[in-house]
Amino acid sequence: MKDSPLLKSLRGEILERFPVWLMRQAGRYMKEYRELRKKERDFLSFCKNVELAIKVSLLPLELLGVDALIIFSDILVPLEPMGVSVEFKNGEGPTIFWNGNIKSLKRISYNSAEFVNEIIKGVKSAQKEVPIIGFCGAPFTLLSYMIEGGSGKEVKNTKLYMWKGEGYHTLMNLLVENLLEYVKGQVLAGADIIQIFDSWAMYLPYEDYKDYAETYLRKLFEGIKKQFDVPLIYFYRGSGSFLHVLEDLPVDAISVDWTVDMVGAMKDIKKAFQGNLDPSVLYTDEDTIQRKVLELLRCIPRKTKYIFNLGHGLMPDMDFQKVKLLVDTVKSYKIA
Ligand code: CP3
Repeated sequence: MKDSPLLKSLRGEILERFPVWLMRQAGRYMKEYRELRKKERDFLSFCKNVELAIKVSLLPLELLGVDALIIFSDILVPLEPMGVSVEFKNGEGPTIFWNGNIKSLKRISYNSAEFVNEIIKGVKSAQKEVPIIGFCGAPFTLLSYMIEGGSGKEVKNTKLYMWKGEGYHTLMNLLVENLLEYVKGQVLAGADIIQIFDSWAMYLPYEDYKDYAETYLRKLFEGIKKQFDVPLIYFYRGSGSFLHVLEDLPVDAISVDWTVDMVGAMKDIKKAFQGNLDPSVLYTDEDTIQRKVLELLRCIPRKTKYIFNLGHGLMPDMDFQKVKLLVDTVKSYKIA
């Protein structure tokens, strides 16, 4: 495991081939996932069913041969023990309800979502081959779910809440403290890497990102690094806008999407990079998939700390065979 291509890449060691894993690698595009998914009525119950979640987490190693396993869960999981209601209605996105009262929110501890830690332990004991990626949402992204009640809407209400100021900093500090506990549970359970997902901060103007989002990200990253020697990967969707800010963050790797000139950024920013193939490439034919993957890999300088991934997650309507081809193409590419 110490010699896994992914950990070697993060340490900056010489590689024979680049490591690969995919966001949403265990998902509805796999018939094995859809079969297991039938055993629970809603998505959150599925995440809480430790035995099933272990099986699902392991599918991408068995079926695709990826170089890392991300545990099967969701970024919204830690909101529930805080006293926020989270619901996934079938076929729709999540619905979140918070009554708006900060005093009603609870501090959580590292074992408040013990099923997540149990899943990590189970995946760890089932295989020793590849590292396990634990994860959490970034504070701003989680706050946006609490305020918007669901995905997106360009986070307008979250901005209004943020600019009004009352409560914002108290709430963000609470989220940071809770996420530190949540991550602590995962590292103690055996997570080898932690990825932090920031899916909505991209809508913030530069100054606001610095003042309102980055400040708390830094607290979270520094808090984790102070306690644990665990590599951190920061996924910043829409990362093209102000990549240079991320250079100073205490993270090991930046996961970027296809809006970024990643190869250009690699020259200036001395961090590991993860990404950034456009997932839509998977809808084309097999020759084009191979060509696009190889075009990307050939541009990566030999000494760069690099992890192949897509710019965002796999979609339910993608073809399993094409995903497999993508992974095989990365794995068979020898670094010159
Ligand atoms: O990457 C993995 O395979 C690990 C598991 C994982 C899931 N969600 C499983 C999931 C991870 C790391 C996430 C992260 C997550 N969840 C993010 C950050 C990444 C991003 O997409 O920007 C966000 C914003 C969420 C919140 C969330 N969860 C939404 C908006 C949705 C609905 C959209 C959809 O795809 O249906 C989910 C549901 C969800 N999370 C599914 C899976 C496999 C699909 C639900 C199902 O199977 O019924």
